[in-house]
Amino acid sequence: MRTDYCGQLGPADVGRAVAVCGWVARRREHGEHLAFVDLRDHTGVVQCVVDGAHDLRSEYVVRVTGLVRSRPEGTENANLATGAIEIGDCHVEVLNPAEPPPFPLDERGEVDEVLRLRHRYLDLRTDRMQRNLRIRARVNSALRQAMERQGFVEIETPMLIASTPEGARDFVVPSRLSPGSFYALPQSPQLFKQLCMVGGVDRYYQIARCLRDEDLRADRQFEFMQLDAEASFVSQEEVLEFISEAVSEAVEAVTGTRPAPFPRISWHEAMERFGSDKPDVRFGMELVELTEVFAGTAFNAFRADCVKGIRVEGGASRTRKQLDELTEQAKRWGAKGLVWMKVEDDRSLTSPVAKFLSEAELQALVERFDPSPGDLLLLVADERAAVQRVLGLLRLELGRPPVDEGGLNFLWVVDFPLFEGLDEHGRPIPAHHPFTMPHPDDLALLDEDDPARLLAVRSQAYDLVLNGWELGSGSVRIHRADVQRTVFSLLGIDDAEATRRFGFLLDAFRFGAPPHAGFAFGIDRLVALLAGEENIREVIAFPKTQSGVDPLTGAPSAIDPAQLEELGLRLLPRKVT
Ligand code: AMO
Ligand code: AMP
Repeated sequence: MRTDYCGQLGPADVGRAVAVCGWVARRREHGEHLAFVDLRDHTGVVQCVVDGAHDLRSEYVVRVTGLVRSRPEGTENANLATGAIEIGDCHVEVLNPAEPPPFPLDERGEVDEVLRLRHRYLDLRTDRMQRNLRIRARVNSALRQAMERQGFVEIETPMLIASTPEGARDFVVPSRLSPGSFYALPQSPQLFKQLCMVGGVDRYYQIARCLRDEDLRADRQFEFMQLDAEASFVSQEEVLEFISEAVSEAVEAVTGTRPAPFPRISWHEAMERFGSDKPDVRFGMELVELTEVFAGTAFNAFRADCVKGIRVEGGASRTRKQLDELTEQAKRWGAKGLVWMKVEDDRSLTSPVAKFLSEAELQALVERFDPSPGDLLLLVADERAAVQRVLGLLRLELGRPPVDEGGLNFLWVVDFPLFEGLDEHGRPIPAHHPFTMPHPDDLALLDEDDPARLLAVRSQAYDLVLNGWELGSGSVRIHRADVQRTVFSLLGIDDAEATRRFGFLLDAFRFGAPPHAGFAFGIDRLVALLAGEENIREVIAFPKTQSGVDPLTGAPSAIDPAQLEELGLRLLPRKVT
């Protein structure tokens, strides 16, 4: 049907007779008997000059034959890849008429999200979506090649499984053959990939679909894709190398440039300097340690476990009202208060609380921050973790560049703690999943009763961060049943529950489990950041809306009473909320 793609024609084709197919993007009449028709396919747009009257409308599917020629001087369009040429003497064949599209496809305007998703097949015709889907395909292909070159074997794990704990709610599927029983859809292939290691696979990978019933956000969908990997007889170091290699390949496939080796930072340092375990290192504004400065302070608010601050370049121009709003925001994030200080021309500090601070304290602040006139200092005092959290959020709020600026800043965060805190029963909460190996130097601490000591246990877990997004997580795994039982019992999972939920894994560990380690990262997130998109929805062909529905197919929807009957299910009356 066609000889060429629209967007690929250029001056080199002048004089050729071509046939192109696609959709009518735009049509401009020139008198009664001449029309300029922009024809679009996935490669772009080409202008076709059509003689005679035609009933051509937007999004009609047509085949155009004609002769490529240079555009008359002065009519070239530098904004269009094919802007130097046009197709003349056109014969147009309408392959299928179309109704007018419910939203324009040729501009990146604000089209209602639900409308876009309801007609996703039209939205997919836009440059933006064509580009994003193709970036995604290149990433997948590069990841496969990189993993295979490193000796990883692709293995598909099941979708209908027993629950895998990754900390989210399961999606469940009722069983017809065992009424009253349910499958869970995998939150990740975690347990299966570990079983593959026991099964001698040595190096496993999968581009795996994962499902988690959690509240949706810009970087979260119910279903998403992981590059999931696991290897035997390897250390953390080797896992970081495998994954760096795969990610670098993918970046190079999209951008043409291989990223620099990914720097590393310990979790502890990340929290101290950036107030986050996924620091956005595209910008500075690091947290400055001030606890010592206020060790003997007369200012009550600063007599705290920890005092830190950030310096906002040029921030002193903020009005009183804006600073009050910032203070309120900090309080909503859990701060007890927020002290602001403006840096004057002589680098003296003005602040409503300056009168409570000594000369030496004010002097020390100038030394620590080394500010310039016009800067703003923001200080928070509290328990260390609270200070880090609030200042980490303020830093992002005040300094974070737009998603498509600042390049690609990958960062490995290593030496995560094994537990991220204590729950309401005083039991530790795992920072990763409960199969993560504690740091060998901290194993003895696991036997202690003191919860504070437990919180100091490091794990062999690591994250990959890109521009402030958590891209992926992994760990060296526990491969011994005794260590696994100790960790389970610390988490309040007793032997009976451990056997009921993970008995198959503990059984497997009795039959010769090799030491193993692995990682998984979110492909949707990587592709979104490579495409310069704020929301992973933009790089998924058929995503759900923020409220978890698919306006295109109408999912989720009611099912037939007969289907319920067959599954042995009865619906409760809907709760009125
Ligand atoms: P984790 O739970 O950290 O680790 O998930 C790994 C990565 O998957 C991506 N991700 C998501 N992407 C989109 N929508 C979601 N709802 C979503 N949830 C997670 C993130 C995340 O970093 N089994 C372990 C890995 C391992 O230990 O090997 C796991 O799943 O990018
Ligand atoms: P107060 O002593 O509560 O009247 O607070 C005096 C000033 O210190 C106000 O601007 C508060 O916002 C600020 N402030 C109070 N507690 C803290 C804190 N823990 N960290 C930072 N600023 C605080």
